[in-house]
Amino acid sequence: MTTRLGFFDSGIGGLTVLKRVLQRHGEVSCIYLGDNARVPYGTKDQKEIRLIAKEVVEWFRDQNLSAVVMACNTTNSLALDVVEAYAGVPVFSLIRAASEMIFEKRIGILATPATAASGEYSNQIKSIHAGTIVIEQGCPDFVPMIEDGIPNINQFRRSAEIYLSPLLKAKVQAVVFGCTHYPFAEPILRQLLPQNVRLIDPAIALAEQLDEVLGAPSSTYAFPISLASTRICVTSDANGFADKSTPWLGVRPEVELISLQDKTCFS
Ligand code: DGL
Repeated sequence: MTTRLGFFDSGIGGLTVLKRVLQRHGEVSCIYLGDNARVPYGTKDQKEIRLIAKEVVEWFRDQNLSAVVMACNTTNSLALDVVEAYAGVPVFSLIRAASEMIFEKRIGILATPATAASGEYSNQIKSIHAGTIVIEQGCPDFVPMIEDGIPNINQFRRSAEIYLSPLLKAKVQAVVFGCTHYPFAEPILRQLLPQNVRLIDPAIALAEQLDEVLGAPSSTYAFPISLASTRICVTSDANGFADKSTPWLGVRPEVELISLQDKTCFS
């Protein structure tokens, strides 16, 4: 049986994880679900986030998956147990993967308000690296702006300066993308951080952890990635999603509109 991975996120964010995986492992059979009818997740309450996770994983159960990749930190921080309980296959956690990439003593986490409030990054990092100082900062403006393609860079920069301020005051040595949308804004965030502050993308460690199911790659694959065995599904506006994701993926994907409720494909 082909090894097939299931990725899910509220929108385009999880594509940053998908791309890291395809860059490392070459052509892999994947199903990506962008639940863009409900983006953003990160300002919803815990109960709703857990219900969404359950609905997504129930849809995944019909897709013959070998593993689920949590390509969304918000559900990872608040509903990993739900996904693990219902998936019936191994579940790969971004937050656990991130903890393995950390060696600094003072860490900043940029995340959605829900992820930051959960404290899950602090818990995971401190369970592996006791004594680490972790500051989690919720960034409510980022996901809507990134989903819109950052139409106003100055406005994004102003929000970023506000969110980064407590991290810089605490003299963090590294900043983690605690939301999978944020790598889309990496150039702007990099400009606002001192040179010696490391930016950490947990998806790099997660792609490595997938060697467990995909095997270690014989060579590191480069851009452009192949989407030949990847099926991308969304819950709203398939064309808009294809447009938005093209620059990031380097190729225009075919995007299917699906309904999580009746589990059928419309296109
Ligand atoms: N990209 C997701 C995350 O990593 C969800 C962001 C959102 O929808 O608020 O948290």
